[in-house]
Amino acid sequence: MPSFPSTRLRRTRQTPWLRNLVAENAVSVNDLIWTGFVVEGSGVREPIPSMPAVHRLSIDELVAEAQELKSLGINAMAIFPAVDNKLKNANGSEATNPDNLICRAVSAVKKAVPEIGIICDVALDPFTDHAHDGLLVDGKILNDATLEILCQQALVQVRAGCDIIAPSDMMDGRVGAIRKALDAAGFQDKLILSYAAKYASGFYGPFRDALNNKGSLKGDKKTYQMDAANSDEALREVAMDIEEGADIIMVKPGLPYLDIVHRVKATFNMPTFVYQVSGEYAMWKAAAQNGWIDSDRILLETMLSFKRAGADAILSYAAKDVAKLLRQVD
Ligand code: PBG
Repeated sequence: MPSFPSTRLRRTRQTPWLRNLVAENAVSVNDLIWTGFVVEGSGVREPIPSMPAVHRLSIDELVAEAQELKSLGINAMAIFPAVDNKLKNANGSEATNPDNLICRAVSAVKKAVPEIGIICDVALDPFTDHAHDGLLVDGKILNDATLEILCQQALVQVRAGCDIIAPSDMMDGRVGAIRKALDAAGFQDKLILSYAAKYASGFYGPFRDALNNKGSLKGDKKTYQMDAANSDEALREVAMDIEEGADIIMVKPGLPYLDIVHRVKATFNMPTFVYQVSGEYAMWKAAAQNGWIDSDRILLETMLSFKRAGADAILSYAAKDVAKLLRQVD
């Protein structure tokens, strides 16, 4: 073992140029994926109280946002629909309507800014009146019956121009079922980004506000999303999704689950994304707005922690903030 005084670890920390040279990790704009919400209407930018500076955007505003993302150099966006409560029902049938809000949003963005990759969730919760991700019958979430609807949902989304299908529902077997459905319909080149290790988490609260699902969720999602106590199980989830055809793996939430990001990347060497979720964003933003933390510094430090853990890309509501900060640094 190297020892003091011949070894002094402070030697390489003396100046910025030295620190830059020995830096093991870096965040670049190439690592960022914008996340946000679309709503009906035009010229609409609805604030979300629990997510300051994030808005529900009407399609025209979303297109303008996509143009801004392109100018910042951001490669992809994950878009979530905040569906009118009147269109929600027990089966989430609006999810498979080829003319639904998310499909119209995807095709408008794709047409205006074809260079940006579009990622869509596959899960029923934006469309169900009980706010669950699958079919709810007698208090139970049905697995196999849900798979059929998810496949239909994936198909309407790729037909609208979505590039990457991201199943976030945590039903068993959904990656395989969706891969098969996409291939059978001629969509061999569409990717699957699997929310493979998705935990039943309190950190999703503000997201549910954003979808107008606050208060409508019956019970919790613990029979399908993972238990925060487990980590070996995350590796089993990921292994199965890879076997079923996932192209990219996601871990979610981010900061409280960095150990999972690290284990997944070290075990499988797959493209691994991490989702800095709504509650993480809300905590950062609230502390920053109160002047309790150095907002920019903590944002960049958090991004670096994702990279250090092994993430290839980061989904974040603060993607634009990060991109702008990286420009200042250049
Ligand atoms: C839906 C979905 C959720 C999130 C992404 N997709 C919520 C949930 O599973 O309840 C959460 C994202 C966030 O909190 O930012 N299946």
